[in-house]
Amino acid sequence: MKRLAPSLLSADFSRLKEQVDLIENAGAQLLHIDVMDGHFVPNISFGPVVMKSLLGKTKMPFDVHLMIENPDLYIKEFVTENTEFITVHAEACIHLHRTIQLIKSFGIKAGVALNPSTPLCVLDYVFEELDQVLLMSVNPGFGGQKFIPSALAKIEKLREMSESRNPNITIAIDGGITTKNVKAVVERGVTLVVAGSAVFNAANPTLAVKEFLQEML
Ligand code: DX5
Ligand code: ZN
Repeated sequence: MKRLAPSLLSADFSRLKEQVDLIENAGAQLLHIDVMDGHFVPNISFGPVVMKSLLGKTKMPFDVHLMIENPDLYIKEFVTENTEFITVHAEACIHLHRTIQLIKSFGIKAGVALNPSTPLCVLDYVFEELDQVLLMSVNPGFGGQKFIPSALAKIEKLREMSESRNPNITIAIDGGITTKNVKAVVERGVTLVVAGSAVFNAANPTLAVKEFLQEML
């Protein structure tokens, strides 16, 4: 089943609950939580306090995307009853295998994100351990950037890799996804679509979610 995870990063933070309600009622299945530390990426977003303010206010599971250095120090802070995935960047983890085990030790599904220039082979020796691979189709740090087309071939390669080695893995794409290009990524094997600006900056976010879901069928 393919799912849509609107990214909270592009929401209006002054009325967070309203924005979350809007996309949940429109049918979005997960909430993508972009955490940035100003070190791994050149931007600072928000941390666990903001994420936890939504507990009890939404039934959507959280898809936590940690764009931070030393994620091992903070993983525990993101473990909540809503947390489905915690995803770390391969580029930020010196001991990636250890970090994956740490996420799983909390009973949370483990994901690894790859920057556009990072090859899939960095996952070769942990691939069977993973619940999600998040392919970045922009350089992480900001919403509203343009989709990098080389991600399309990377999705296909990842899907092939998953067919033989980890058929239930979630293949996620993040960055520059719109209602115009979402079909192309889903056709190539994406099962979790992250979209920020194309949802929250749309004239009508409810309609945008519905259009996404329609295109993803
Ligand atoms: C970028 C973040 C994304 C971002 C996507 O570093 O990881 O999740 O919110 O925003 P859009 O969909 O606008 O590219
Ligand atoms: Zn993200």
